[in-house]
Amino acid sequence: MVCALAIAGSISSTMAITKDEDASMQKSPPSVSSVPFGQLDDGREVSLYRLVNANGMEMAVTPYGGTIVSLKVPDDEGNLDDIVLGFDHLEDYLAPAYQRANPYFGALIGRYGNRIAGASFSIDGKTYRLPANDGDNHLHGGTQGFDRRLWQAQAFEEEHAVGLLLTLESPDGDQGYPGTLRAQVRYTLTDDNALDIRYEASTTATTPVNLTQHSYFNLDGEGSGDILAHRLMINASGFTPVDDALIPLGDVRSLDNSPLDFRTPVAIGSRIDEDDQQLLRGKGYDHNFVIDRGEAAAEELVLAARVEAPRSGRVMEVYTSEPGIQFYSGNFLDGSLTGKSGVPYQQRSGFALETQHYPDSPNQPDFPSTLLTPEETYLSHTRYVFSSVPQ
Ligand code: BGC
Repeated sequence: MVCALAIAGSISSTMAITKDEDASMQKSPPSVSSVPFGQLDDGREVSLYRLVNANGMEMAVTPYGGTIVSLKVPDDEGNLDDIVLGFDHLEDYLAPAYQRANPYFGALIGRYGNRIAGASFSIDGKTYRLPANDGDNHLHGGTQGFDRRLWQAQAFEEEHAVGLLLTLESPDGDQGYPGTLRAQVRYTLTDDNALDIRYEASTTATTPVNLTQHSYFNLDGEGSGDILAHRLMINASGFTPVDDALIPLGDVRSLDNSPLDFRTPVAIGSRIDEDDQQLLRGKGYDHNFVIDRGEAAAEELVLAARVEAPRSGRVMEVYTSEPGIQFYSGNFLDGSLTGKSGVPYQQRSGFALETQHYPDSPNQPDFPSTLLTPEETYLSHTRYVFSSVPQ
């Protein structure tokens, strides 16, 4: 029987479960182990943690960027496939995101997921300037966002779950943002095949915060082709329309009679090439959907999206406490990056569903505020639940 310890420092790579044991799909206690993943330029060692639940579902995470490197999920017959895009080697993750050599595959995003217009915002009359890494605008926390940091990691085990607790201190002025921000992200892989993510942060000065996870999914297996036949439901009757640079115009628009309406499940590709101004601006779907939260309390999880894969029958549901979700259909992938399977990632070979507050909220007075004060604690909770339907 595999027995793994909960303390990261004492976990040995020899405790890792072998492939053969995976294949047998026998119930064994959840476990966590770690192996070296490489070194940063400054000599710091980077590990790769492997979390396995009682069903054999497994996730590999590196504290570099808090990146999910692989996520192996069973289909209806128990076959495991890796359903997230990414690389085998640390060096590939180190390539600059803003040059699209690593488009945030699997990474934690901070301090601000999505775009901030003009790469600046003001608080109490003081203007803060941020790196412009997406034309004139700021994207995903800047050139050295949280996806580029080595987080502190501590593995843990619970009775029916394993996990990794990641912490990061972002100093005052980091990427132009005010206040020292202490961020914590808790990944938990549960025995009912859920990946639970809890984000927490505190600050020494008022600052915008909008943390998210940037995995690209292909539920039939990464490298298996495009995601256009995946059937998607998004629980949203409105979205935030954008300009040519994908900056919100400021209103929330109804999705009635729109090719962006996913309230009834439909294949992602069925309307993606329609002559619709918003689809043309996004080069496909790249929009923030305003989740229909009904009367749910702010911290409550609400079903935001459900995706079903055409061949494997794998299903992913996304529950979140956030008011918005960015659906990005992988439009900027262009075949220039080759991932774990050795197959180039062509356009739309993966999609992202990023739970979040709305883009550019620091400059949009009508959007829910993303400002965190020193008196408050930032809390955000998202759960990806995996299952399958018979094929
Ligand atoms: C954005 C895309 C962007 C991508 C970066 C997504 O979250 O919505 O516009 O290109 O991240 O790879």
